[in-house]
Amino acid sequence: MLAGLREVLDPAVAAHSGVGAFNIICLEHAEAVIWGAEAANLPVVLQVSENAVLYHRSLEPILIATVALARNADVPAVVHLDHVTDVELVHAGVALGATSVMFDGSRRPYDENVAVTADVVRHCHKHGVDVEAELGEIGGKDGVHAATARTKPHEAQDFVADTGVDALAVAVGSSHAQTERSTRLDLGLVERLSEAVDVPLVLHGSSGVPDDELVRAVRAGLTKINIGTHLNATLTRSVRDALTDQARLVDPRKYLGPARDKVADEVERLLRLLSKSG
Ligand code: G3H
Ligand code: ZN
Repeated sequence: MLAGLREVLDPAVAAHSGVGAFNIICLEHAEAVIWGAEAANLPVVLQVSENAVLYHRSLEPILIATVALARNADVPAVVHLDHVTDVELVHAGVALGATSVMFDGSRRPYDENVAVTADVVRHCHKHGVDVEAELGEIGGKDGVHAATARTKPHEAQDFVADTGVDALAVAVGSSHAQTERSTRLDLGLVERLSEAVDVPLVLHGSSGVPDDELVRAVRAGLTKINIGTHLNATLTRSVRDALTDQARLVDPRKYLGPARDKVADEVERLLRLLSKSG
């Protein structure tokens, strides 16, 4: 069933467990994430990023399909718009049935990020939609998404109070789009942030973080664990193997079907891992 973000994260915070949030690029991702969550019998977040929308050249088809799958799921499933920088896209997503939005103002100056994020929160809350946001105070090529960026607990506290967000993405040592799972996080900082901030904390770029560190991260206070690249690697490895082994294959179902099953298995495994972290 379609669920709100806090509806799924609040019980996880209380249980000191984590919730997997997986990026959706194509329909097969969304099916695999739902099937994996149903197999694990655990709640899940399906996230459609602004970049995925740009890839499809349209929000509606991918979002409506994801909402339909979530609605028909046997487990609570949040449909979340991810890394949205365009306020119009937030409005469109809310109108189409997204239950959660990450507004990413991390590249804006602090005061502007606070003002725009607070506007987004007002609009979303009016429609019963939860908002995740991120504060960015560290520059550099990847800004707050760089592995060296760190969120300061007192700034996080102020940002949450000033914007009214429902969840906060924090910079604690991860970095997006890693294909090696070897990142070590600043777990002491996670503990300090979790004491300072009274909304669930979100880890971005979790693909580079190995299983044991993900478990420690959840124990230290992270709740929503965003994973994208790792599932893409799982899907692509399966497709590559199938096409290499069977050079005459032309029916996409013959290589996408097994790849989708592999992704569903990995979603099930990760959801179980994160939920047992506490
Ligand atoms: O918001 C999405 C996530 O941060 C995914 O990052 O592809 O590095 O796992 P990742
Ligand atoms: Zn992210």
